[in-house]
Amino acid sequence: MSETPPAPPSKDTLSNLMHEDRRFPPPSGLAAEANVTAAAYADAASDRIAFWEEQARRLDWGRPWTNALEWEPPFARWFEGGLLNVAVNAVDRHVDAGHGDQVAIHWEGEPGDTRTITYAQLKDEVCKAANALVELGVRAGDRVMIYLPMIPEAVFAMLACARLGAPHSVVFGGFSAEALRNRIEDARARVLITADGGFRRGRPNALKPAADEAAEGTGIERVLVVRRTGETVPFTEGRDVWWHDLVDRQSAAHTPDYFDAEQPLFILYTSGTTAKPKGILHTSGGYLTQAAYTHHAVFDLKPDTDVYWCAADIGWVTGHTYIVYGPLANRATQVMYEGTPDTPHRGRFWEIIQKYGVTLLYTAPTVIRTFMKWGEDVPAKYDLSSLRLLGSVGEPINPEAWIWYRDTIGGGRTPVVDTWWQTETGAIMISPLPGVTAAKPGSAQVALPGIAADVVDGDGVPVPDGGGGYLVLTEPWPSMLRGIWGDPERYADTYWSRFAGQGFYFAGDGAKKDGDGDLWLLGRVDDVMNVSGHRISTTEVESALVSNPQVAEAAVVGATDPTTGQGIVAFVILRGGAADKGPELAAELRDHVAREIGPIAKPRQILVVPELPKTRSGKIMRRLLRDVAENRSLGDVTTLQDSSVMDLISAKLPTSKED
Ligand code: PRX
Repeated sequence: MSETPPAPPSKDTLSNLMHEDRRFPPPSGLAAEANVTAAAYADAASDRIAFWEEQARRLDWGRPWTNALEWEPPFARWFEGGLLNVAVNAVDRHVDAGHGDQVAIHWEGEPGDTRTITYAQLKDEVCKAANALVELGVRAGDRVMIYLPMIPEAVFAMLACARLGAPHSVVFGGFSAEALRNRIEDARARVLITADGGFRRGRPNALKPAADEAAEGTGIERVLVVRRTGETVPFTEGRDVWWHDLVDRQSAAHTPDYFDAEQPLFILYTSGTTAKPKGILHTSGGYLTQAAYTHHAVFDLKPDTDVYWCAADIGWVTGHTYIVYGPLANRATQVMYEGTPDTPHRGRFWEIIQKYGVTLLYTAPTVIRTFMKWGEDVPAKYDLSSLRLLGSVGEPINPEAWIWYRDTIGGGRTPVVDTWWQTETGAIMISPLPGVTAAKPGSAQVALPGIAADVVDGDGVPVPDGGGGYLVLTEPWPSMLRGIWGDPERYADTYWSRFAGQGFYFAGDGAKKDGDGDLWLLGRVDDVMNVSGHRISTTEVESALVSNPQVAEAAVVGATDPTTGQGIVAFVILRGGAADKGPELAAELRDHVAREIGPIAKPRQILVVPELPKTRSGKIMRRLLRDVAENRSLGDVTTLQDSSVMDLISAKLPTSKED
C-alpha cells in the first residue's frame, strides 16, 4: 500500500520558526554529577557500534551476542546471537542485587487511592501474571492484547508477556471498540487483558463493554479482566476470567527463559497516512538497550535518590519506553497516575509532585500549555522544589511554553529537555543532554550519542546550517522498528523509499538546522495530524466520516490550535437527501468518529460544504482547506480544477464550532 508523497515544509512554516537567542547552560551541580558527559559524543563518533555494545552491557544477558549489527537495508538485527529476558532485566536483577525493598511504583488512583509496589512485589506480581498467562495457553510468540487503564496491572501484564516472550499489543483505553477490534484482527491475538473500567474525570469509565464488542467474532479465546471500578459488567462464562481469581492463586515462582535479542517484544499501532493503522514491531535486545541508555542519559536518573514521573499513558509509545522498559531497567522509583490533570482539582499534578517528592518530570507540550491557561497561581500553592529536571515530548514545544515550564514549574533552576522521537524509533533520538548542552528554548538540538540524524532537501542532499527540509536518520539504531506487522512492503515503502538512493530513514517530519547546526522540529510534512501529541491520520478520520450514511465525501485537515498543537477540522459533502441540520449534524458526526476511532479523533469543527478543492488529477488540496480552517488568505489556487470552489467553501463560514 503506498503512502501519500509528502509536500516539503512551506516557506511559511520555516519563517514561523522563532528567533531565539536565550541559552540555558546546565546547572553546575548537575553537570558535575551527570550520568553522561560530552565524552559520550566523541566515543560514539569514533565507533558507533562499539558505543552501542557498551550500552548493551548495561543489561544482563543470558548469552552474549556474537554480531552487534547485521544490516541488510532496511532490515536490521542488533546483538545477534545474544539471549536475554527483558522482564528479568526490568525486575529480577534488581531484586537479586539486594534492592527488593526499593519502591518501583508509587501508584496514585484518580479518586486518591494509592498502592506502593516494591521491586520484590513487582517480581511476584509479574511471575504470577506470567504463570496465569501460561495457564490461559499463552506461549512464546503468541500476541496478547492489553486494553487497560493506568493501573499497576497494566505494567504487570506487559512485563508478564515480556517474560514469556509473548509480544504484547497495548491499545490505548481511549480507543473505541472498532479500533480495538481492527488491532486484534491484525495482530491475530487469542488473549485479551482488560478491566471493568478505570476512573476518569471523577467517574468510572467502563472498558469491558467495548472490549466485549471488539472481541466478538475475532480469534480472542480468553479474556482476563481486572476489577478496578467494581461496577457490574457483562461477563462471558468460559471465556472471561477475573484477574483476582486467576492471577492471585498462582505461584510467585517462575523460571524465565532466555530469548533471542530479536524476539518480538511488542506491536504498537500508530497512524500512518492511510486509513489502516500500522503495527509497529519492536524487538528485545536493541530496544531495551536504547530505552535504558536514553533514560539514563537524558533524564540523568540516580536510582537511589530520584523519584521519576512520566505522565504519559501506557497506551502510547512514551508509556512503553519511559514508564515500563527504560525506567525499570534502570531501577527507577517512579510515580504512576491513573487520571486527568484536573480531577478533582487543577492542582492535581503539583499535589502529586509535592506528595512523592518527584525530581524528574516528563510530559507533553499540550499539557504544559493547558497549565499555562489555568494560571501560575495553581502550581504556586505547592512545593515543587524537589524537581531537578523537566522533559517534553510529543510535539514541538514553543519557546513561550518552554520558558514557562522552566520558570513556573522548575523554579528557574531545572534544565528542560525537549526530546524528539517516534513510535517507530522506539526511544529518544534527538535531545539535549542535561549535563552537557546549553539549552535553547524550542529546539530539540542534537542527535544523541550513537544516533545519526540530518536535514535534507527533496533530493536527499543535506541542507546547510540555516536551511530547512526533511528530517532523516542516516544510520540504523538499536531501538529502530523492525517492520510493520505483517506488511514488510509497507515498511519499506513508508520509511525507506523516499530517500532510497541514500538509504535514509524518512521520519515524516520537517526540520530546520539553525546557524549552530541545532535541530528545530517543524511538525509533520505528510497527512498525519498531531493532536495533543497524538498521531491521527487525516485519511483515518475521513474514512470514519464517510462511513456515516449522511456523508458523501470528507476532507480533514489539522489546523493550528493554541493548546492541542493541531485541531481536527473536517469538511464534509452530504449525500443527496441528507439535511444540513447545523450543530445537531456536527454533533452526530463527531460522535460517529468517536465511535469509529475514539474520542481523541473527534473533529474540533465540522463544515458542510458543497464541493471540495481538487487538483485536475482529483487530489484534494488540503493546503487550501488548511488556509480556510486557520482563517488565512488563500494560497495559490491556480492548480485547482475549479477555482470557484473556494468561494463556495468560504461562503459557508462562519463555521459551526464545537467545544
Ligand atoms: O511529528 C513528530 C512528533 O510526534 C511524532 C511521533 O509521534 P508518536 O509516534 O505518536 O510518538 C510520540 C512520542 C514519542 C513525530 O514524528 N514529535 C514527537 N516528539 C517531538 C515531536 N515533534 C517535535 N518535537 C518533539 N520533541
